[in-house]
Amino acid sequence: MRNTILVTGGAGFIGSNFVLDWIAHGEGTVINLDKLTYAGNLDSLRNLNGNSRHVFVRGDIGNRDLTRQLLTKHRPRAIVNFAAESHVDRSIHGPEDFINTNINGTFYLLEETRGYWQDLTESEKSAFRFLHVSTDEVYGSLGPSDPAFTETTPYAPNSPYAASKGASDHLVRAYHHTYGLPTITTNCSNNYGPYQFPEKLIPLMIMNAAAGKPLPIYGDGSNVRDWLYVGDHCEAIRMVLDRGGIGETYNIGGRTEKTNLEVLDTLCAALDVLKPESPFKPHTSLREFVKDRPGHDRRYAIDARKIESELGWAPKETFETGIRKTVQWYLENMDWIERVTSGEHQRWIVKNYSDRR
Ligand code: NAD
Ligand code: TYD
Repeated sequence: MRNTILVTGGAGFIGSNFVLDWIAHGEGTVINLDKLTYAGNLDSLRNLNGNSRHVFVRGDIGNRDLTRQLLTKHRPRAIVNFAAESHVDRSIHGPEDFINTNINGTFYLLEETRGYWQDLTESEKSAFRFLHVSTDEVYGSLGPSDPAFTETTPYAPNSPYAASKGASDHLVRAYHHTYGLPTITTNCSNNYGPYQFPEKLIPLMIMNAAAGKPLPIYGDGSNVRDWLYVGDHCEAIRMVLDRGGIGETYNIGGRTEKTNLEVLDTLCAALDVLKPESPFKPHTSLREFVKDRPGHDRRYAIDARKIESELGWAPKETFETGIRKTVQWYLENMDWIERVTSGEHQRWIVKNYSDRR
């Protein structure tokens, strides 16, 4: 086995941040298998052009022949599975892709990994890891005073996205329990930061506010999410890969519960400061309440004490510092947004928001 890791979905938001972070902090080669859906952008990895430690392969995690070839050729010591359909609103409009990639794709990836792992030597087998990146949305929705999700909170997914991720988590668990595959699962809260596709709350709002467009708030804006800066998430994944227990799950969160209105206030305040010449100040004046998302989960909150105490991880960014960095990054990278927001993205915006007004 080589000091190589296979990353799936490494051209997406968290995956590209992870690959960049790994090349900066880790050793060895990254094989990056990504289908390049609307959410995958090689532009996010352009700093790695010409870097022999990054090998990009366009392909589907459901393509078993391709995965087998990659495993046989590159002999990775670990697989980090980010590849997924990831947007709740899209899963409501069309769940099929979520079933195909998140459930069937993970299944095929696990099957090929099992075949590869079984043929390794005993020492290679024990060193190997399959790290599955999942979400806190598998646990369902919390009431205002419920305790935060722990690793033993029962699964109660509410959206097709969350259900498909929950199913993939169960498959990963079963492959460890049944076949002994050395798997680890991480369940993380909402991420934000550079290279996030502008369909998710934070980048969409930065993009709209900077352009003087309305900021569409679903329902009354009091839904709560637990926000984590993507760089902190990448560090947590590196630690879990390095020292996490086989067959374990780790919840990862930022201890930053915010209502969507609080998120907008922080983001707009940062924009007011960083774009003092903007004709749209104060940017909060662009807020617009629109029809709610069907089945909209009220509150997510992560209890991250396990990863904090076992692995010594803690988020470094506060919400204010993370948002400031993020707003600054988007303002300096408007060309990235323009390149990734294709015609398909424009059609999505029309479809998702036209029936909310
Ligand atoms: P993303 O949508 O930005 O990126 C997903 C990537 O996977 C894209 O590059 C896409 O091209 C690729 N992909 C999709 N289908 C594929 C397939 N069949 N084969 C190969 N590649 C495929 O998602 P993200 O926000 O970066 O999320 C990454 C992972 O983290 C997902 O598994 C998601 O469920 C999980 N997660 C995300 C968040 C968040 O806040 N974004 C929070 C917790 C967990
Ligand atoms: P989102 O970024 O889609 O993440 P998730 O649904 O996976 O938590 O949404 C975050 C929160 O922001 C969620 O409560 C829905 C809300 N939201 C809006 O109010 N307006 C929007 O335009 C979007 C995309 C999300």
